[in-house]
Amino acid sequence: MIVLGLETTCDETAAAVVERDDDGRGRILSNVVFSQIDEHAAFGGVVPEIAARAHVEILDGLIAQAMRESGRHFAELDGVAAAAGPGLIGGLIVGLTTAKAIALVHETPLIAVNHLEAHALTARLTNDLPFPYCLFLASGGHTQIVAVLGVGDYVRLGTTRDDAIGEAFDKTAKTLGLDYPGGPAVERVARQGDPERFALPRPMVGRPDADFSLSGLKTAVRLEAERQAPLSDQDVADLCASFQAAVADMVRDRLRAGLKLFRERFGQPMALVAAGGVASNQVIRALLNTSALDGGTVLVLPRPELCTDNGAMIAWAGAERLAYGLTDTLDAAPRPRWPL
Ligand code: KG4
Ligand code: ZN
Repeated sequence: MIVLGLETTCDETAAAVVERDDDGRGRILSNVVFSQIDEHAAFGGVVPEIAARAHVEILDGLIAQAMRESGRHFAELDGVAAAAGPGLIGGLIVGLTTAKAIALVHETPLIAVNHLEAHALTARLTNDLPFPYCLFLASGGHTQIVAVLGVGDYVRLGTTRDDAIGEAFDKTAKTLGLDYPGGPAVERVARQGDPERFALPRPMVGRPDADFSLSGLKTAVRLEAERQAPLSDQDVADLCASFQAAVADMVRDRLRAGLKLFRERFGQPMALVAAGGVASNQVIRALLNTSALDGGTVLVLPRPELCTDNGAMIAWAGAERLAYGLTDTLDAAPRPRWPL
């Protein structure tokens, strides 16, 4: 089964072709991503209108490139998938409409994919990973712990009550005058800092549920920055390190609670799987490994370029759904809000 996948939910424009064999094994035939970071950097965050226009300008060329690199023709496709949500409405319309046009012209099924479902299933594209497993998804827009029980069968065990973790990294970077996107910048600067200099709060730690909360921590960083102003380079590094340590403590505790809830409801998970841009943070990656071991399971961490937004994850989720005959009609609507 060969599926083309399109990703346009936020600030990455992406197209990919993947293959799924009868045994459920996946292979990436092409995976082209254009990051719009440069377009948005001057504004310190994603500007929806700029993102939508960039998707329109770039997508056709990316699809042509993805098809060319895959060595396949449109006539060979068994389906075309697009992320139909959740995300920014302008981008969703661009991706979904383009997929519908391809489906119509080439008489191939359309699969309207939930972007979060795609993150949840990506680990199965490159690993022989049976259900059920526990997903930790942490990106700029989402922070969730999800029980992945089967294709189309997901139970959310925990989520953030306010900001996403990536968003908190981005806002902390902005407060401290660092570049956008903030995650990599905070991680880099934190290497020179003292994680124990500032006693920042660890919201939610110790609670039996598996929810997150980042806004109190974000505010604490801002107040501490105001107290220390004007900030020296060392102050900034110490604030970054202290912030990152607080996030790590929270993630460790929330995963402990999430894995416990998982075991109580669904038995032992086959793996802890991480996805989203935050999972590329080295401090977080290290704790994910110990969290998995402490929870009696193993860590499955997709390659970094498959953890962040990409087309292969959409194509793969499309293929997994297609294998169960789960296709959509051409009147499928984009869904800016679409919980898993
Ligand atoms: O999954 P992703 O590429 O895109 C979506 O948000 O959908 O995640 C981007 C987010 C941004 O908020 C970025 O600051 C964060 O992931 N991020 C990081 C790191 N790299 C990216 N956060 C912490 N440490 C990093 N190294
Ligand atoms: Zn994403």
